[in-house]
Amino acid sequence: MAQLWGGRFTKETDKLVYNFNASISFDQKFYVQDIEGSMAHVKMLAKQGILTEDEKNQILAGLEGILKDVNEGRLEITDEYEDIHSFVEANLIDRIGDAGKKLHTGRSRNDQVALDMKLYTRHEVVEINELLKGLLESILHIMENHLETYMPGFTHLQKAQPITLAHHMGAYFEMFKRDRLRLDDIYKRMNYCPLGSGALAGTTYPLDRAYTAELLGFAGPTLNSMDSVADRDYVIELLSAMSTIMMHLSRFCEEIIIWNSNEYRFVEIDDAYSTGSSIMPQKKNPDIAELVRGKTGRVYGALMSILTTMKGIPLAYNKDMQEDKELTFDAIDTVKGCIALFDGMLKTLKFNEDVMKVSAMKGFTNATDAADYLVNHGVPFRDAHGIIGRLVLYCIEKDKAIDELSLSELQEISPVFGEDIFDAVSLETCVNKRMTIGAPGPDAMREVIALHKEYLK
Ligand code: ARG
Repeated sequence: MAQLWGGRFTKETDKLVYNFNASISFDQKFYVQDIEGSMAHVKMLAKQGILTEDEKNQILAGLEGILKDVNEGRLEITDEYEDIHSFVEANLIDRIGDAGKKLHTGRSRNDQVALDMKLYTRHEVVEINELLKGLLESILHIMENHLETYMPGFTHLQKAQPITLAHHMGAYFEMFKRDRLRLDDIYKRMNYCPLGSGALAGTTYPLDRAYTAELLGFAGPTLNSMDSVADRDYVIELLSAMSTIMMHLSRFCEEIIIWNSNEYRFVEIDDAYSTGSSIMPQKKNPDIAELVRGKTGRVYGALMSILTTMKGIPLAYNKDMQEDKELTFDAIDTVKGCIALFDGMLKTLKFNEDVMKVSAMKGFTNATDAADYLVNHGVPFRDAHGIIGRLVLYCIEKDKAIDELSLSELQEISPVFGEDIFDAVSLETCVNKRMTIGAPGPDAMREVIALHKEYLK
């Protein structure tokens, strides 16, 4: 049991207490950030004359050695240390002796852990953002290739109006683009450095907090030392943004599962992204899509957990906050894994264009356009709605689509119909005429795609 404290204690810590309190099993994940933060701190201490140049150089060399040895597997992080901060400091003192004992001058584990967590999550914000960029590129690629791949658009999971695959994919482009903008925003807000806040009330040493902030790539130091050690808003914001990413992935997965079903057959998931059944030889299951959908709950859980942990904590640091790590790390790994897997599945997804088109032609997705036709020929919309309703009923009885009826059948229902109705309700016309920005018409879509390309540049 290696601890940084103990002077005022007369008894050993109970073993169970020690284990319950220790965080090394999970905070070892940010040993790089811990060492990076210590290096910046030491450079600042020397610049301010609090450490000598020689002490600084000894400490930096010691820290570099620890980093290298852990990276290359020569030094193992074991649970004989309470946490990653203790591990680094104890190893440093082992290596360089007395100079190592000065590392923690003007610092507390409270500002140290706040810094480590921020550095770690800040890096992950960038990583997740990059993964989303890759996903957007895959989506855009599908959009460009399917401007005239017709399919039914649904409301209530009932066929509604015809759209294109490009348009459907475009909806997800918007979602994941918003997710990226949210991450950009979180990055800006979190990018202030808590180091130098001490335990809660700053320190009496003449620290240059702006300098450490600059060394660590922050926009500046945080402005209240109590808030600095007690703030985990950025963790909550990140988990909230990640929950939204998972919600979007989950909806997309749900659609792919439906489209991949025997009944729909709009898509076929690649063999490399499907699994079989142990008993039913014919099965090819969309397990990956289902797992991504399933793992969404786990990320939401992490968000609920930290919100609940933080809600009753009086200022400033309290040990409850140690609970910010495990579920956040798990959520980050989950989200990154899900985006990467989903992207792979999407890239290899086969679209059955013919099936989609036939589906769009059946199911009266052109009924609105048929009503619009009557309106264009002087029939008030509400009357037109009623006429087409009766027409659909007739079609259902005859098991035909609107454009499969003869002109005389159509005219029996309304004399307003002329020969031009067939062109007016064809799938191509129904889609191509939807030209306002945001609509599925290929011309409108091309404009949007150009904007997306500009955004991704
Ligand atoms: N392991 C602790 C955490 O994760 C580090 C901070 C410890 N500070 C303290 N006052 N006990 O929050």
